[in-house]
Amino acid sequence: MIPLRTGERNLRIRTAKDTDLDDIVRLDAEAFPADPYPFFVLRQLLTAFPDFLLLVEDGEELRGYVLATPPHDAQSWVLSLGIVPDLRGQGLGRHLMTRMLSHLRAQGTHAVWLSVEPGNETAISLYLSLGFVADPGGPRKDYFGPGQHRLLMSLNL
Ligand SMILES: CC(C)(COP(=O)(O)OP(=O)(O)OC[C@H]1O[C@@H](n2cnc3c(N)ncnc32)[C@H](O)[C@@H]1OP(=O)(O)O)[C@@H](O)C(=O)NCCC(=O)NCCS
Repeated sequence: MIPLRTGERNLRIRTAKDTDLDDIVRLDAEAFPADPYPFFVLRQLLTAFPDFLLLVEDGEELRGYVLATPPHDAQSWVLSLGIVPDLRGQGLGRHLMTRMLSHLRAQGTHAVWLSVEPGNETAISLYLSLGFVADPGGPRKDYFGPGQHRLLMSLNL
């Protein structure tokens, strides 16, 4: 059970398994319709870092996920965080991110990094409220290719 703003929901958070791949691909496309990960990227990330891919499920379907990297030099990246549209704004993204940050801390991560679209106010305000700090240099131009600027944010754990 996870307490959401609209009441308790029968949701649970768990790590991903190989057999989740097709459902993760669908979930990612629902959370990021304009820019989903290619299938092969999700396949490789799931194979490489299964313990760093946390899923929210409601018994029938996946409803959200967060993906990070294992620590390297005590630093990790959160690569993706997505909640299905009809469950947004109820506290689930915060809950999932908090779970991942605890996991990373337990795994030896001392600093977490992420990149976010500079106009994604919802995500940025979530990250700021969790203690992330924006790169003082501002958004990095063309960080993900031409026109794909990104703001880097970091958090010391
Ligand atoms: C960004 C996202 C993961 C946040 O998850 P969520 O479950 O909707 O967020 P929560 O309900 O946990 O809200 C957490 C915080 O986000 C911010 N937030 C949430 N909805 C917001 C909105 N509509 N406008 C502005 N800020 C908002 C608030 O700071 C909120 O803090 P609060 O709990 O004190 O109100 C989710 O909206 C999403 O999947 N968006 C599409 C994919 C995406 O942009 N992912 C991030 C890529 S870097």
